[in-house]
Amino acid sequence: MSSHPQDSHHTTRKPITLHRLRELYASGEKLTMLTCYDATFARVLDDAGVEMLLVGDSLGMVLQGKSSTVPVTLDEMAYHVRSVAAGNKTAWVIGDMPFASYQQSPSQAMQSAAVLMQAGAQMVKLEGGGWTAETVHFLTERGVPVCGHLGLTPQSVHALGGYRIQGKTDEAASVLRQHAKELSDAGAAMIVFELIPSVLAAEITRLLPIPTIGIGAGVDCSGQVLVLHDMLGITRGRLPRFVKNFMQGYASIDEGVAAYVVEVKSEQFPDNATHGY
Ligand code: KIV
Repeated sequence: MSSHPQDSHHTTRKPITLHRLRELYASGEKLTMLTCYDATFARVLDDAGVEMLLVGDSLGMVLQGKSSTVPVTLDEMAYHVRSVAAGNKTAWVIGDMPFASYQQSPSQAMQSAAVLMQAGAQMVKLEGGGWTAETVHFLTERGVPVCGHLGLTPQSVHALGGYRIQGKTDEAASVLRQHAKELSDAGAAMIVFELIPSVLAAEITRLLPIPTIGIGAGVDCSGQVLVLHDMLGITRGRLPRFVKNFMQGYASIDEGVAAYVVEVKSEQFPDNATHGY
């Protein structure tokens, strides 16, 4: 039985390319991304129609039980990128550059990006604004698609004083606007906004010529991402309000993930009143 619109896409969907992502963005269709760390889930998410699989360094917390993403190494990231790439058929695979793998210099970043791309990533993601623009330019000039990450940048959790909402003051909001523009000008193909006010995310999304992917940044971003284990309702402990358990009301993971795709595309998720800031 197949009653869901996304159920049968796998046999028909062509591989997602950067060009295709740009087409979807230009048409106003919301983009879907979930974190993914292994081959089996890669196949499940791809089958459900998720366009982008983010091999996030959140795996340090989700898979390794660490208290932050800081200890994750490049070798560990490459292992999980390889696993995801092996299970994936059509989704776009993004590899997170872990802490201390790109901060030193653009050429260090290029070497690290090469490790992830050779493991099967099609794009790399790096955190932060300002100083990262030069690195993003360096990578994109050399054929590496880059996703930026602004707002709450978990690798800086110790500097930020915890997992707090960012961009709340006028000054912080204007720095964020500036950083987003610099990343876009430097060649970033998209930017993740984590834990920032929905109104600010909406405003910057309107200003930028590239997609923004929100996590705790409201419904007006160009797309959404969640940590897989959070949206499957299996993460223990207190979760941020932007998380929704998509297994509620569904009997299988396939159905829960398909519901995520439908709710993001139809802008039912996130609901700014419930999940936004
Ligand atoms: O590592 C990760 O999973 C991420 C997402 C939270 C965007 O960066």
